[in-house]
Amino acid sequence: MPVQRSLFGKPVPAMVPRRMAVLLATIAVFAVITLVFTLPNSIPSGPSLGRFTDHKYTLPKLPKHIPSPSILNPFRQAAHPPPVQKNSTSGESKWFSNWNWLSPFSSSVTLDENRSLLPMLIPRTPIYTYYDHTVEKDAGLKEAQNELLLTWRRAWWAQGFKPIILSPAEAMNNPLYVELQTKNLNPQLKVDMSRWLAWENMGSGILCNYLVLPMGGQEDPLLTFMRNGKYIKLTRYAGLEGGIFVGSSAAITAAVKEALGNKERLKTATDFIGTINEEADEDSKTFDVDPNHESIAFYSNKTVTEKYPKIAQEIIASPAKGLLTLNKLINSHSHSTWQKRFPKGISVLKPCPEHMSSAVAPAKKLGDFLAMCPESPMPASCPPNLPKCTPCVSSTPMVVATPENYKNTSTLFTIGTVPHPFTMAVLTAFRDNIDVRWIRRESERDPWLAKITQVLLGTGVSGAPRVIKFKEAVASEHGRYHSLWVTPEKELPHDLDWAFGFSIPRNATDTGKSETPVPGPERRPKPEADLKDGPVASPEDMKKEQELLTRAVEFGRARSEQEEKLRGAIEAWNLADTEAWRFARAFLARSRVERLKWEEEEKSYAGGAGSERATSEGWGRWGDK
Ligand SMILES: *[C@@H]1O[C@H](CO)[C@@H](O)[C@H](O)[C@H]1NC(C)=O
Ligand SMILES: *[C@@H]1O[C@H](CO)[C@@H](O)[C@H](O)[C@H]1NC(C)=O
Ligand SMILES: *[C@@H]1O[C@H](CO)[C@@H](O)[C@H](O)[C@H]1NC(C)=O
Ligand SMILES: *[C@@H]1O[C@H](CO)[C@@H](O)[C@H](O)[C@H]1NC(C)=O
Ligand SMILES: *[C@@H]1O[C@H](CO)[C@@H](O)[C@H](O)[C@H]1NC(C)=O
Repeated sequence: MPVQRSLFGKPVPAMVPRRMAVLLATIAVFAVITLVFTLPNSIPSGPSLGRFTDHKYTLPKLPKHIPSPSILNPFRQAAHPPPVQKNSTSGESKWFSNWNWLSPFSSSVTLDENRSLLPMLIPRTPIYTYYDHTVEKDAGLKEAQNELLLTWRRAWWAQGFKPIILSPAEAMNNPLYVELQTKNLNPQLKVDMSRWLAWENMGSGILCNYLVLPMGGQEDPLLTFMRNGKYIKLTRYAGLEGGIFVGSSAAITAAVKEALGNKERLKTATDFIGTINEEADEDSKTFDVDPNHESIAFYSNKTVTEKYPKIAQEIIASPAKGLLTLNKLINSHSHSTWQKRFPKGISVLKPCPEHMSSAVAPAKKLGDFLAMCPESPMPASCPPNLPKCTPCVSSTPMVVATPENYKNTSTLFTIGTVPHPFTMAVLTAFRDNIDVRWIRRESERDPWLAKITQVLLGTGVSGAPRVIKFKEAVASEHGRYHSLWVTPEKELPHDLDWAFGFSIPRNATDTGKSETPVPGPERRPKPEADLKDGPVASPEDMKKEQELLTRAVEFGRARSEQEEKLRGAIEAWNLADTEAWRFARAFLARSRVERLKWEEEEKSYAGGAGSERATSEGWGRWGDK
């Protein structure tokens, strides 16, 4: 007789085993579906990462009931990607500029795996100079002035400004120009008045002579103030003789009106400041006079005559030749001022260093060039604003080290080479026939980023916080002025001069001849203990590394089905490294597009003065030679 089962004293009908099995299977299927659908919600979406981000940019907390927006979530609701921004593509790189750029994975916002999330472009404050391109002069002099204007534009661009050259065209656009013509003025004053009318026509901003250059760090208080672009009063700088002014639109207009109305002074003055009554009491003063300007250098006629007499004589003997020499001097001062900002030297990152020599060779070469003493007509001279500097020739040469880890030190400049995971894989495996099995079974996840951020974050941290730190190092306000990140699959950009603000010595020979003082290896100091050099590959290994790199570049272009599969697998396995690579590539591309757009806008004004000649040489892949 079958056993009578009971529950709470009531009899339970016996169940046929087959129905029991169907019931259990149904429950199991239901349980799995429930688990999968609720899983994305049950992963906390922010706090664990928040700890690693800059407090200014903490990740927005998503409400609990919204499913994970990650593109990797297969149950994500279909959504339109955000609209494509203007000029946000260059070659294969695409980007989307947004305030929440510190999200670890761009695709969760852009909904496009190839579009990187970048910080908003900081609007550049215009800085104006005045150049009369219509005056007849000989071609040599014009060329020399063009070089000086180019140096001026490059230096201010690198400091985060938007340099603009004004010409008589802007002055004529000003309604007050007619009034100026009716006055009988000293020719020198007339030029200065035109300069002011041109500036007034543009509204607020900075007006300077093109022999005024920034010579200081980006974090200098005066340069930071100028970059912010919010001026209330009209300010001039004591001792800079009308070389540079900042002011609001209303204050500039008031000053110009006052100058044109001052009949007595207009008769005798030789420059704009001379037309202004400076004895007025404190409140109604036209100009505020600021005595602090350590970061601004003015190579005025007076300064050159006093400090660089050799060049002053050359200018008198032959203006064109003399100005070219002056341009060289300015460039060398800019370069050595940059060097002085990084007393710890240059760090060329070389993680997993055994087979990385070839991949980082261009970055290393760039580092070596940056560390050289610049070619200068007066090697022992100092910039006018820093009379007590130690000239490069007589100071200890800059260190160029190749450590494995990134260090966030404001006195150290970092040049990083960010490889695609495939490039990294073939170089570390040291063979080119890697396959999906090797990726899954033998390779580590995100090896590059893990090494780079090891000192910052230690081991045992996942990819997401590492990628956030990396993005900060590349693109934050602090990071962008203390590092440069390139990819080994592409040549170094041709326009790095614009990122540094001076012309980098390109093919100076490292012979140690006294003409261009290049410190020999014996004079180079040893890097500090925490900046260890990586091993350098033997010539045979170097050759093989070259072949592997070439293979990686080809792989980047190839689109066969097999290769697509391998690419998909390696990118999925190294999500954080792939994100870092795309980010670095897009950031570099965007800064180039920003500059080209500005060049495009500017080239039709002032007769195209200050533009680059087509002679600028590329950098090439230096490692090839
Ligand atoms: C992203 O780029 C890769 C390679 O360039 C391409 O194969 C893929 O289709 C792109 N994905 C999208 C969503 O455009
Ligand atoms: C510079 O000063 C010298 C002498 O003081 C003068 O002869 C020369 O004309 C000046 N040059 C300019 C461009 O003002
Ligand atoms: C580096 O240090 C500066 C302050 O010295 C800080 O503002 C910045 O966020 C740090 N960057 C990274 C990547 O840690
Ligand atoms: C440097 O460039 C000049 C002209 O472009 C060339 O004549 C010279 O040979 C180059 N020197 C080196 C070392 O490449
Ligand atoms: C920016 O976009 C415009 C049209 O959308 C195009 O004509 C221009 O060439 C682009 N500029 C750059 C630098 O890509």
